Amino acid sequence: MTPQDTEARNGADDTRPGRRSISRRDLFRVAGAAWVASPLAHSSDPRGLVADGTPEQIHLTWGADPSRTVVVSWAAPAQAVNPRVILSQPGSGSTVVHAIQRVYTDGLSGQTVFTYHATLDGLASQSKYHYTVTADNDRQATPFAATFQTAPRGKVPFRWTSYGDLATPVTSWVMSSPQSRHAVDAVERFEPLFHLLNGDLCYANLNPMAQPAVWADYGRNVQRSAAYRPWMPCPGNHEIEFGNGEQGMDSYLTRFSLPDNGTRFPGRWYSFRVGSALFISLAADDVIYQDSGPFVTGPEPLVPARSTGQARIEPGTSFYIRGYSDGAQTRWLAETLAATRHDSTIDWIIVQMHQDALSSSINGNGSDKGIREAWLPLFDQYGVDLVLCGHDHDYERSWPVRGCNHHVGRDAATGDAVDTCQPRPVITAEPTAGEFDTRGGTVHLILGCGGTGAPTDTYGKNPANGVPQAKVITRANRPTPGGSPGVFMKLNADAVEDAIWSARRDTLTGYGIAVFDLNPGQPGGRTSITMRYYHSVGVDRSPSSNYELFDTMVLAKQRRD
Ligand SMILES: [Fe+2]
Repeated sequence: MTPQDTEARNGADDTRPGRRSISRRDLFRVAGAAWVASPLAHSSDPRGLVADGTPEQIHLTWGADPSRTVVVSWAAPAQAVNPRVILSQPGSGSTVVHAIQRVYTDGLSGQTVFTYHATLDGLASQSKYHYTVTADNDRQATPFAATFQTAPRGKVPFRWTSYGDLATPVTSWVMSSPQSRHAVDAVERFEPLFHLLNGDLCYANLNPMAQPAVWADYGRNVQRSAAYRPWMPCPGNHEIEFGNGEQGMDSYLTRFSLPDNGTRFPGRWYSFRVGSALFISLAADDVIYQDSGPFVTGPEPLVPARSTGQARIEPGTSFYIRGYSDGAQTRWLAETLAATRHDSTIDWIIVQMHQDALSSSINGNGSDKGIREAWLPLFDQYGVDLVLCGHDHDYERSWPVRGCNHHVGRDAATGDAVDTCQPRPVITAEPTAGEFDTRGGTVHLILGCGGTGAPTDTYGKNPANGVPQAKVITRANRPTPGGSPGVFMKLNADAVEDAIWSARRDTLTGYGIAVFDLNPGQPGGRTSITMRYYHSVGVDRSPSSNYELFDTMVLAKQRRD
């Protein structure tokens, strides 16, 4: 079910996008005293209104063209009246952009969530804008105001950051951690143009009867960064929720306004261009073997609130969505990559997804053969430079890989040979020149190092030869009866392989942030991306704002023009 479907079901889309110009004096009146300018509010003190439409959880995303379109999204405790953004630039006039409303009713708690989305388009590239978010029933005396910067055009330098598995700082929630507050501050420390949030945003589905509350805590935590620079997410296994749509993503899809992919699955996957880089965001739950969405272990069933009308969910039930797009996502990926082949304005292709094709975490999830089968051949064919993932709550960097070795894995239980499609490294030592040329292979980074309270920074080793070893999931691990009556469990990864592709692993901590600086170079010359990974040691014992440099990697190659 898409957010649009949700709107239709709830019949609550009572606002329409539109724009009108107002004077700076109007802006002052609206911004400083919203109810004075509102026909509705003339008849009533807004603090006396029943509905509270105060904007909260404010965040930005790029539109299809980040140099000209930014979307402001937010939530409100109740239905907002005349939700809008007032956009301005110093020395020029102001514009009011009305927001569209998207709502959904959580299928477990029965709580209805109101969200708003204002698309700001026709913007100037590489320009700073001021904006205010408000509504006629905004109860704040001074509406929220912030600034943002549009993306540059052409081959120019820029910075982005990334991590996944953030969680919330409200420690009563499962997987939450105070570190998630410091992780947001880390983004602000490095002042990127935008941030890639590679899935498992807040673990709402591990708190099934409080999902909207967990999402709200996530939104409030990230606002102090995400309201000032776009945070571009991809869905992870913890964005799948019982009772919330065909793939359980109604909450995620309602809250985020993301570039269209032209398929009947909007919001799950998308791409955008910044400078000479194409960014592709994928929804890997569509192709992975692992069954890692919500799961009722038992012995008690999960019983939704009576108001939802949903049936109780019996022990042993999991929400497994592998294959939901019936190949549509992979076809879209192939077409998107093929379009870059003769485009000399694109030097770099960066992919983000949540789950991992190359992870040797021993106490995390490990690698998933589903990604290796579905997407790694496309990454090889079209020369994807860099893949950013989360899922395992640590940092791991691969050597550049291309192609794979067949039938070199082993069944974890029997030791029999298994085809894990072991990725083949093209180099197994740090380059003497200090730079990897990714025309030879794709580098994978595990960046599940946001702020979640469950770090997994322990790595596998082959006991026979001491080389790194990875768990590999090669078949679905659906629920099976557990050790006691009415209790179910899911088996661990079914295979292992030597992780000949693993270049660096952080065994000191599972917390950090990756910072990427793209240098476009000169025509006819070389272009580079420098990745610096900063980690925060000791977080397992005490949350910390101290992030120190742990690893540096430079990718470089000839420009295409
Ligand atoms: Fe995950």
